[in-house]
Amino acid sequence: MCGIIGIVGNQAVTDRLIEGLKRLEYRGYDSAGIAIMENAVSGSVLSRRRAEGKIHNLVERVAKEPVDGNLGIAHTRWATHGIANENNAHPHFAGRVGLVHNGIIENFTQLRDGLKKVRKFQTQTDTEVVAHLIDEAMKNGASAQEAFAKTIGQLTGAFALGVVIEGEDQQLFAARRGSPLAIGLGDGENYIGSDAIALASLSQKIIYLEEGDWAVLTTDSVKIFDADNAPVERPITMVSGSLAAAEKGNYKHYMLKEIYEQPETVGRTLTHYIDAFNHRVKTPEELELETLDFKNLERVTLIACGTAAYAAYVAKYWFEQLADLPTDVDIASEFRYRRPALSQNSMAIAVSQSGETADTLAALRYCQKKGLKTAALVNQMTSTMARESDYAMPINAGPEIGVASTKAFTSQLTALLSLAISSGVQRGHIDKKRETELTDALTQIPRLITETLALEPEIETLAHDLSKTENAFYMGRGVHFPLALEGALKLKEISYIHAEGYAAGELKHGPIALIEEGTPVVVIAPYDELFEKTVSNMQEVATRGAKITLITDEKGAAHTAGMAHATLVCPETQSESAPIVYAIPIQLLAYHAAVHLGTDVDQPRNLAKSVTVE
Ligand code: G6P
Repeated sequence: MCGIIGIVGNQAVTDRLIEGLKRLEYRGYDSAGIAIMENAVSGSVLSRRRAEGKIHNLVERVAKEPVDGNLGIAHTRWATHGIANENNAHPHFAGRVGLVHNGIIENFTQLRDGLKKVRKFQTQTDTEVVAHLIDEAMKNGASAQEAFAKTIGQLTGAFALGVVIEGEDQQLFAARRGSPLAIGLGDGENYIGSDAIALASLSQKIIYLEEGDWAVLTTDSVKIFDADNAPVERPITMVSGSLAAAEKGNYKHYMLKEIYEQPETVGRTLTHYIDAFNHRVKTPEELELETLDFKNLERVTLIACGTAAYAAYVAKYWFEQLADLPTDVDIASEFRYRRPALSQNSMAIAVSQSGETADTLAALRYCQKKGLKTAALVNQMTSTMARESDYAMPINAGPEIGVASTKAFTSQLTALLSLAISSGVQRGHIDKKRETELTDALTQIPRLITETLALEPEIETLAHDLSKTENAFYMGRGVHFPLALEGALKLKEISYIHAEGYAAGELKHGPIALIEEGTPVVVIAPYDELFEKTVSNMQEVATRGAKITLITDEKGAAHTAGMAHATLVCPETQSESAPIVYAIPIQLLAYHAAVHLGTDVDQPRNLAKSVTVE
């Protein structure tokens, strides 16, 4: 999604803005631009450089036509209204105003119509009208600050804004409603950014603006106002140095680095939820969730999008099997508009890496309005979902930069399994012996992931083969059905190969019609109580010519000798925690297929990391 960065500084800002944009690349974008207040002899002049495509195009443009000054804003745009070309790229200019925006201005047509007589519009975007409104208000006598405040009061929709104004060489304006925006505090300088990662090289002292807040930044002051235009103080958060360490290191891609981090990241998630020394899950008190009561709960509703939704689907099996707790999983964009029947004594858990996904956030708010207890399982504890829900639960995976989620997925699974065990204990469905068994199995996972990562050379070879196909299928049963969905999603996202995931028993009800000689089918089947059933389904497609890659363990391999085209042998895993380990080969398979095809693995086309529009 669009990314914003701005600096009101005491020295040149262009290079630093571009460096900030690079840190925002992971969010996904298709054009980029900067606007700088140049101190021309006759007074300050706002100049911009914009370019379609990747940031290096913008860098080339700036090299050809240099621009610099001490005040500037910059933007990566993920097109919504108007195609991704230079003309629609931000910053947008109107009169004295330069503006960057993340989100959607829902009433832009109305606002635009109202201004058509007096203003000429240059772009197809929903954003440009905001710059015109500010400029028009100033023309009609308002000060810059008054014009900014008045304009945001006229907007509906979701937005984060950064604004600079010719003649106001010392001021940077910012606003946040619906889309995230943070302020970084510097020494004789101040900054705005879509997230703390963008600001990592500039500041570790961060103020997260709250819903409806707007702000005026100068080199030595930050004034914040709430939605009623009353001055407010917001807390300063010190972000950890690890954000600054969101670098690729020696890895070719962030995605590969993040795949390899999983023994450590899953370990961190476990440390939060499990008392490994005493072979038990931590109590709600230990997790600082004192009033979290699974015991008397009638139902859990898990809400999420994308990969997080697949983690939630796996968790449905866990909550039902381990805690006898009825569990719904809902795609957030569907949930919020289908007027779901909610039972009062239930809890909604939003699962989201970013904690900012617009649909998930709206669904969470919907549940809150309906009087449900809400929880957010997030990677960003400073995110809107974490702040607005009754219970904020971390996954502690650290910054995930690759657009295709990997380490956040396994940490979401780890946290959800821990919570399912915890609810099983609270509801009397799991005794001490079983709790010990389950938590001991969990503590083995980092080691099992390390062992599974050693399959990479084999997987790379298989991935080369897979990269030659146009269609692929993934199948699994039980907890491995959602993993099949995730496997197909990973392959689609980064290699652009069409892939579908199915419950193994479901293929014969339709999709089997697509199987022909050589169609690749990835079968996820550890040797568990569903193994035989999955193998029967595997044979149904193998008989029709499918080329099978079986992901199993030693026992599974022994029982299927000669049946599959290729067999990947994972370490033996306790059945509940198996999906966390089996996620590794499906991630590596997609990764190497994409690398072989030469796609942009970390920033796949059309995708965004944090989707802050509906
Ligand atoms: C986007 C990303 C996916 C992610 C989904 C949900 O579509 O490309 O990788 O799974 O959003 O994001 P969240 O931050 O809510 O987990």
